[in-house]
Amino acid sequence: MSEVKIKIENLYKIFGPRAKEYTNKVKSGIDKDELLAKYNHVLGLDNINLDIKEQSIQVVMGLSGSGKSTLIRHINRLIEPTEGTVLVDGEDITKLNKADLLEFRRNKTGMVFQRFALFPHHNILDNVQFGLSIKNLDKSESKDKAMYWIEKVGLTGFENKFPNQLSGGMQQRVGLARALAIDPDILLMDEAFSALDPLIRTDMQDQLLDLQKNLKKTIIFITHDLDEALKLGDRIAILNGGKLVQDGNAEEILLNPADEYVSNFVKDVNRIKVLKIGSIMNIDGNMNESNPSVMVDESIENCLPTMLESESSLNVLDNDKNFVGVISKNNIAEILRRSKD
Ligand SMILES: Nc1ncnc2c1ncn2[C@@H]1O[C@H](COP(=O)(O)OP(=O)(O)O)[C@@H](O)[C@H]1O
Ligand SMILES: [Mg+2]
Repeated sequence: MSEVKIKIENLYKIFGPRAKEYTNKVKSGIDKDELLAKYNHVLGLDNINLDIKEQSIQVVMGLSGSGKSTLIRHINRLIEPTEGTVLVDGEDITKLNKADLLEFRRNKTGMVFQRFALFPHHNILDNVQFGLSIKNLDKSESKDKAMYWIEKVGLTGFENKFPNQLSGGMQQRVGLARALAIDPDILLMDEAFSALDPLIRTDMQDQLLDLQKNLKKTIIFITHDLDEALKLGDRIAILNGGKLVQDGNAEEILLNPADEYVSNFVKDVNRIKVLKIGSIMNIDGNMNESNPSVMVDESIENCLPTMLESESSLNVLDNDKNFVGVISKNNIAEILRRSKD
């Protein structure tokens, strides 16, 4: 579970004809605005170092233009780095020759885009089968596989329809099924749900989390929406002007934002909903048999009724019912106070 699947090291991307010449300027501290103003080159990525664990959902978040798409496109090398390496399963994919790169892209990675990118003149079944054509399966095998994924994303009965006969949410399910059908280790999702209506978007998030319980893919999920990031991400990496300013889990990002940019992102989040009891409890307290107990993985919100009814602190238990700490009204007051800063 904790093996690193993708290791990004000292990655720089500068857009423009003399990119290589300008990396040293970036290394000596020139930022994106200055590089553009003085040298007319665009700083896409500025020394990115990021370990992505296998079977995890790594969210990449940041304002528009911060470098999210540029980063994800380095993972299947749709973009060549100006400098740096991207290791997948220990292999430097920036060194792959053309044939190996094609093989790597087809077999190890699947991509889901914001604008579905379906073939309008092919039906849903053919769209899902698309990536399978290179897999040397016979016709019925390939069809079975496609039908399996069509069912998994809840589109059984729609396989003979055409994309424009489906709603946006359904089209995105097709995009997801198509990516999953080739059974890639790595799923790259660039703002995949951003074009969907809020309710459908929530559905898709739930479905992705549900699928991931069994799939256990390594998923890179780009979003500029913090709620989506907090819901989906095992880790959340935050980009600003091509720089990685923080990488952490939801709790770390909310409780210890690395800078003002991150603080601004998280300032309106309802911490009571998002934070777990474990992130604010006292670990040096003692078990008190006469006090009520709550679970360490529950949201703070879930323990509020128990807390309000209780005169005392609460015992915090882990999933095996072991005592792991104490939570008091003061802990909650502290979180509320900090949210207002
Ligand atoms: N092919 C390109 N040529 C020049 N500049 C580019 C190119 N692709 C992206 N950029 C620039 O790189 C920066 C990062 O872009 P992008 O990765 O698309 O951001 P995001 O996905 O976070 O919105 C932006 O300033 C963008 O204008
Ligand atoms: Mg983008």
